[in-house]
Amino acid sequence: MDFYEVIQRRRSVRKYKTDPVGDDKLHRILNAARLAPSAANRQPIFFIVVRDDKIKQRLKDAYSQEWFFTAPMIICACALPDKAWKRNDGRTYIDVDVAIAMDHLILAATAEGLGTCWIAAFKPSVVKEVLNISDNVEPLILTPLGYPEVIPASTYRKPLNEIIREIK
Ligand SMILES: Cc1cc2nc3c(=O)[nH]c(=O)nc-3n(C[C@H](O)[C@H](O)[C@H](O)COP(=O)(O)O)c2cc1C
Repeated sequence: MDFYEVIQRRRSVRKYKTDPVGDDKLHRILNAARLAPSAANRQPIFFIVVRDDKIKQRLKDAYSQEWFFTAPMIICACALPDKAWKRNDGRTYIDVDVAIAMDHLILAATAEGLGTCWIAAFKPSVVKEVLNISDNVEPLILTPLGYPEVIPASTYRKPLNEIIREIK
C-alpha cells in the first residue's frame, strides 16, 4: 500500500473480529514503532503487548468499553519520563516521542490491513497495577490491535487553508 493510501485508510476502529494476528505482522508493526525518531534519540518508550484473556479482563476496570476487548490483543505505549529529552526551559518532549512511535505503529498496522484506535481515556493507576508497571513508567496510550469488523467512514478534518499560516 502506498504511503498516502495508508494515511487515507487509517481509522479509529471500534469493532473488531476475534481472528488472531500473525506474529510476522506483529513483528513488522512493532519494528515500525522502534524505528521512530525521538528527541536526542533518547528512545524513552516501550510497548507492552497483551494477549492473555485474564489480563484483558482485568483491564476492563481501566477502560470499560466492550468493543475494545474483542480485538485479540491490546498494546500499551509506555513512557519513561526520566529518560526523555528536556529543553533548556525544562519542557519535556516525552509526549511527542511517544506519539511519533505510536503513529508509526498505527500506520504500520493500517498497512498490514489491521485496525487500531488511540485510547487515552483510561485509568492509568489500574493499567499500572494490572500490567505490573513500575513507578517511573507512565502508560500513555492504549490501542486494540486486530482485524476490523467494521471500517468507519472518514471523519471531518479542517481544510488546509485553516491549518496553514504562511509568512511571506
Ligand atoms: C491522543 C489521542 C487520544 C484518543 N483517545 C481516545 C479515547 O480515549 N477513546 C476513543 O474512543 N477514541 C480516542 N481517540 C480517537 C479519536 O477520537 C479519533 O482519532 C478522532 O475522532 C478522529 O477519528 P479517526 O481516528 O477515525 O480519523 C484518541 C485519539 C488520539 C490521537
